[in-house]
Amino acid sequence: RKNIGILTSGGDAPGMNACVRAVVRMAIARNCRPFFIYEGYQGLVDGDDKIKEAGWMDVSGFLTVGGTVIGTARCAAFREIEGRRTGVHNLIKRGIDALVVIGGDGSLTGADRLRAEWPEHVAALEKDGRITAAEAQRYRTLMIVGMVGSIDNDLASTDMTIGACSALERICESVDAILSTAMSHRRAFVVEVMGRHCGWLALNAAISTGADYLFIPEAPPSKDDWQTAMCKTLKASREAGKRTSLVIVAEGAIDRSLKPIKAEYIREVLSTRLGYDTRVTTLGHVQRGGAPAHFDRFLATMQGAEAIEAILRATPETPSPVIGMLENKITTQPLKEAIELTSEVAQAIEKQDFARAMELRPESFSK
Ligand code: F6P
Repeated sequence: RKNIGILTSGGDAPGMNACVRAVVRMAIARNCRPFFIYEGYQGLVDGDDKIKEAGWMDVSGFLTVGGTVIGTARCAAFREIEGRRTGVHNLIKRGIDALVVIGGDGSLTGADRLRAEWPEHVAALEKDGRITAAEAQRYRTLMIVGMVGSIDNDLASTDMTIGACSALERICESVDAILSTAMSHRRAFVVEVMGRHCGWLALNAAISTGADYLFIPEAPPSKDDWQTAMCKTLKASREAGKRTSLVIVAEGAIDRSLKPIKAEYIREVLSTRLGYDTRVTTLGHVQRGGAPAHFDRFLATMQGAEAIEAILRATPETPSPVIGMLENKITTQPLKEAIELTSEVAQAIEKQDFARAMELRPESFSK
């Protein structure tokens, strides 16, 4: 009978609770014992009452609630080897056989590091007498299953991350509201959206709200002439009869010299060059909060159930997987490969080798 720990880590995302609920209930249905690990990796480091067995009714109502009820943290202690070793000790003390981590790129990178270092930690704990030889033998490997919970939709190996769809819905609702006031005053608005170094939210929001201009990190404009190109486009659409101008800028937008493109600077350009009455709205954390959209509840539930199946199917040789969704099918891929691929894509974007980035992760560019 397997004991399965579950934690949420990094920035919260709508649908994380639905995922926790699916993991807990599927674990119980498949005769395993699920354990909540509170406050992300911090709970692993703190141990004791931060690791608690979860029952069927403990996740009642989780499906529809945003954020993460079991808490999350960006944990500094876990970035240090000693912190991770303490975490391993706490897991072994509680008899945890497998760990389910729901988080973004950084959290899954942390999970992958823990997986790689696990035998070394076990050997050190045995040498220090903190665990017995029998425990070292029983826990010589740990299965870690990753699921991508992040509004940014920035992980290779899955078409959609849990939370991205809800955040996009919220952005669209907010921009719709902005457009009605913009239209009344014939104003221009520059709306900054989240996404860290990924432009998926901004791109999809721009298409869905009929924006006039868009800035994303994946398509940086030349540093000297984007201002002119933007003004020309906005002016043409006003001349065609439009009462508003809408520019969407991803928080990670840059030009080709890697200089950030900031909403406030875009506002200045529109005001001085075109004379438009221009306002900036930074949507901020409202994008991450609130109830999950249908798709995130569904995706989280399917993936949570698959996480338990992946644990039960695994042999000691099976590499730790990440559960994703490609072309509408729930997938299981080695966590290590997904992390490596994501970092290769990021490096290609940094070097502005977009052809390579596209080749590595065609799904993010075609979306
Ligand atoms: O990764 C999710 C995200 O919301 C990013 O889009 C954003 O850059 C970041 O987290 C904000 O982090 P924090 O909540 O720590 O300010």
